[in-house]
Amino acid sequence: MSTPIIELNAAALRDHVAAELGRTRARSEALTAAVDDTELIRQHSPIMSPLVWDFAHIGNQEELWLVRDVGGRDPVRADIDYLYDAFKQARPNRLALPLLDPAQTRHYLGVVRSKVLDVLDSVRLEGRKLVEHGFAFGMIVQHEQQHDETMLATHQLRVGPAALRAPAPEPEHSTNLPDEVLIPAGEFTMGTSTEPWALDNERPAHQARTPAYWIDTTPVTNQNYHRFIAEGGYDDPRWWSNRGWEHRCEAGLVAPLFWSFDGGQWWRTRFGVVEPIPPHEPVVHVSFFEAEAYAAWAGKRLPSEVEWEKAARFDPTTGRSRRYPWGDDDPTPARANLGQRHLQPAPAGSYPTGASPLGVHQLIGDVWEWTSSGFAGYPGFTAFPYREYSEVFFGGDYRVLRGGSFATDAAACRGTFRNWDHPIRRQIFTGFRCARDAAAEQQAG
Ligand code: AVJ
Ligand code: FE
Repeated sequence: MSTPIIELNAAALRDHVAAELGRTRARSEALTAAVDDTELIRQHSPIMSPLVWDFAHIGNQEELWLVRDVGGRDPVRADIDYLYDAFKQARPNRLALPLLDPAQTRHYLGVVRSKVLDVLDSVRLEGRKLVEHGFAFGMIVQHEQQHDETMLATHQLRVGPAALRAPAPEPEHSTNLPDEVLIPAGEFTMGTSTEPWALDNERPAHQARTPAYWIDTTPVTNQNYHRFIAEGGYDDPRWWSNRGWEHRCEAGLVAPLFWSFDGGQWWRTRFGVVEPIPPHEPVVHVSFFEAEAYAAWAGKRLPSEVEWEKAARFDPTTGRSRRYPWGDDDPTPARANLGQRHLQPAPAGSYPTGASPLGVHQLIGDVWEWTSSGFAGYPGFTAFPYREYSEVFFGGDYRVLRGGSFATDAAACRGTFRNWDHPIRRQIFTGFRCARDAAAEQQAG
C-alpha cells in the first residue's frame, strides 16, 4: 500500500475497506470452492471444525459486528448465533449441530455482505472508537483471514487428492549468511498505540529492555531439524522439558507432523502431494515442545517474545521501532512470503529485501515462529472491543507465535501482531528460530 490508513480521507478509507473485504472474501470462497459439499460438511480432524462451520462463522461475526453493532441494523439470522459461537460450541461437537448447509451458508454470507457494504456507505468512520479509521471493518477482515488460515490448515489435514495448487516460491537466495545476528542490549518500543487496525493485545506501545543476545539469521531448516532426528533427539530426554518429554512419549512423536519415513528416506505430505523433504525450507508443523527440544540440543533456546519483536522492529540507527523488519511500508511479494501465494515456506535466506536492519531474515511470513513466552497483556492493556478476542486467553497454557506464515494474509500480519496456541499444536504452519544469550563481554551498553 502507498498511503497509510491513518492518512486516508473518508472516501479513500471506504474504498480501501471495500477492497480489503472483497479480496478477503475471494480467498474464503476459493478455499471452500476447492472441495465438494460432502467435504465441506465433514470433520477432517477432531481438532478442526468442518470447513462449512468456519465459513458461516465468518459471516456470523461480520453480522454481529458490522451489521448489528456498527450499522445498528436488525439481525439477519439471530437464530443461528449460538451455532457459530466458538465459546458455546467446542470444536469436536460442531459436526453434530444443525449447521447451515453450504448453499445456505453462501446465501447467508451474501446477504450479510451486501448489508455491510451498505453500512460502509452510510456510517461515518469517526466519532466512535469502534469505527475510527475503519477499525471494526479491519478487525473483521483480519478475523476472516485468520479463519482462512485455519481452513487452509484443515485442507492440509484432509486426506485425499490435492484440491489446492500454487507455484513454489522462486526466491532470490542469499548465500553466505552468518548463522546468527547479535542484537545489542538496551531498550526499544514494543507494541503499538498508533497502528489503526492493530488488535487490543498489540497495545499499548511500551518500553521493553533486553540484554544482548544472538538470534538465528533464518528459521531452522528441515536439514537442520533432520540432524536432530538422525542424532536421536527424539529419544533423549535430556533435550526435552518434563512436560515436553511426557507429551513426546504419549503422542509417540518421532518427526514433524506430515513427515513419514519410507524406502530409507523422509517424505512429507503437503496438501495431498507426497514429496521428498526440501532441505533448505524452514521446518514446519512442529510443536512448541519439539522446538524447545531442538533448541536445547543445538545448545541454544527459543527467543522470548520481547527478543523476537526487538529483532523484527528495532532500528539501531534511529532507535525507533519499525512496523516491519524492512521499514514502515506494507509487505510486498519481494519482501515476504505471505497471503497463500505459495503453499509452502521459501528456502532459508530468501527475501533479502525483507531482512531487518541488523540482517535477520524471514521474520515476517514463511512460518509462524514459536517463542518461549506465555500469552499475557502488555502493561496498560484494555480489552477492546471484546474480552473474548484476547483477554480470556491471557495466562492460559499458550505460547506466543510471531511473524505469520505463507498462509497468513498481510492484513493479519505486522511486526507487532501476536498469535498464540497450545504448546502441543502442530497442524498450524509453525516453525521456529533459536536464540542464545550473548557472552558477558558483549553485554556492555
Ligand atoms: C488468534 C489465531 C488464535 O483462530 O483461534 C478467530 C483468532 N479469534 N476467531 C483463532 C480468532 C476468534 C484466533 N487466533
Ligand atoms: Fe472466529
